[in-house]
Amino acid sequence: MFVEEENNKRRSYGSIFVYCFFCVVLVVGIVRFAKPYDNLRQNLMEAEAVVEEGFFDVKNSGKPPCQSSRSRSVSDPAHNHEKLTAPAWVYRELPPTSYCVKFESFATMMKQVNDGKYESRPFSVGGHTWSLLLYPNGNKQDRAPAGYMSAYVRIHNSSLTTSDVYAEIKFFFYSKTQDKYNTLVDNVPKRFHMITNPEWGMPNLYHLPTFLAPQNGFVFNGGQSVFGVDVFVTPPFKNWEVFSNEENIRDPFLDWNLPLFSTRYRDSYTSGSFSSGGRDWVLKVYPNGAGHATGNHLSLYLLSASNETHYVQAKLRVLDQIRFTHLEKQVEGWPNATTENGWGYDKFVPLADIKNATKGFLVNDTLKVEVEILSFSKTDFFSV
Ligand SMILES: *[C@@H]1O[C@H](CO)[C@@H](O)[C@H](O)[C@H]1NC(C)=O
Ligand SMILES: *[C@@H]1O[C@H](CO)[C@@H](O)[C@H](O)[C@H]1NC(C)=O
Ligand SMILES: *[C@@H]1O[C@H](CO)[C@@H](O)[C@H](O)[C@H]1NC(C)=O
Ligand SMILES: *[C@@H]1O[C@H](CO)[C@@H](O)[C@H](O)[C@H]1NC(C)=O
Ligand SMILES: *[C@@H]1O[C@H](CO)[C@@H](O)[C@H](O)[C@H]1NC(C)=O
Repeated sequence: MFVEEENNKRRSYGSIFVYCFFCVVLVVGIVRFAKPYDNLRQNLMEAEAVVEEGFFDVKNSGKPPCQSSRSRSVSDPAHNHEKLTAPAWVYRELPPTSYCVKFESFATMMKQVNDGKYESRPFSVGGHTWSLLLYPNGNKQDRAPAGYMSAYVRIHNSSLTTSDVYAEIKFFFYSKTQDKYNTLVDNVPKRFHMITNPEWGMPNLYHLPTFLAPQNGFVFNGGQSVFGVDVFVTPPFKNWEVFSNEENIRDPFLDWNLPLFSTRYRDSYTSGSFSSGGRDWVLKVYPNGAGHATGNHLSLYLLSASNETHYVQAKLRVLDQIRFTHLEKQVEGWPNATTENGWGYDKFVPLADIKNATKGFLVNDTLKVEVEILSFSKTDFFSV
């Protein structure tokens, strides 16, 4: 007779597929000023509007990026029993995870249901109740080709959600000769709706004479057979990130004075943190050089105060206080992970030049360094 075995349930995801995402997005009006840099840096701190973290800027649409522009139907309810033209069957060792039905005698069951269906007892997956329907002689109402078995999965209307439910469906039948489960490669989630689209399945599941052929081992031990199904309810889309470049930086400059420079004996000095483009940064100076530069060069770096690993484009400078110009080196790239020194140069300027009074780097024993941040990458996270 009919024996049913409930297997482990997997993937118990949230029950409701949210088909309308309303992203609460404020677009911050942005007025950008192109502000050419001059050496005397007047009026540098002119405020520019900046895009706040957590909000899209005007370049991005106010929608989750992975959402279908078609808001609902993936499959037309009128063709809910869609046909796969070229099903690819594979053998899998892992048994079906949602439900199994074992027929002690496939032939007896086939005779009993005749042109109708065998419907399994309800089983629960992903917060919904389902059943497996098997038409051993084909579902003629769904235009099953002659000589084919049909199989369907039906969502029950017991839980009171009226949303669409999407689930990946895999049908299985066991082969005794392979000791594996024959199944179809198809990972496209199918749409279910309790009222308008409660079933999805395949009228042309498998060729019955091939199924019955003894050498395939689908009918074994004097007539037994095992069918199974995986129902993986896909959870609603929730989280995403947007990677972009921030190029119109508010407050791009930091000037940092190091007085009493010749008396600084520590390896390195780090500035107070400053905010630029909505991120926090620091400057770091090694008066006597870092690494290979020790003893011959001054080392200068820009660091992220919050250890962010942006792609950064910036200009680092040591100011010539006599001629009101500067020595400048540009950095561009991801931070240097090997040194934890961010973006910069071990050999920024020779110590001989620092000490050479005619260069103007040290005036009144004060060193002045500066950074101008040109752009940095950012990743914004969103959640519905
Ligand atoms: C569920 O379906 C059964 C028949 O399939 C029907 O009698 C019943 O009213 C339905 N319940 C709901 C809540 O739609
Ligand atoms: C950044 O990293 C340094 C060293 O790895 C650590 O001491 C510091 O606490 C970190 N800062 C933040 C904000 O995570
Ligand atoms: C990182 O720092 C090391 C040691 O100073 C240096 O050799 C290397 O070139 C740096 N890498 C980058 C990408 O700046
Ligand atoms: C200092 O720099 C000037 C050029 O700027 C150079 O002519 C002079 O030789 C340097 N002095 C020393 C001691 O290196
Ligand atoms: C150096 O310091 C003295 C006294 O503090 C001051 O008079 C002078 O203007 C300073 N020079 C520069 C170039 O800042």
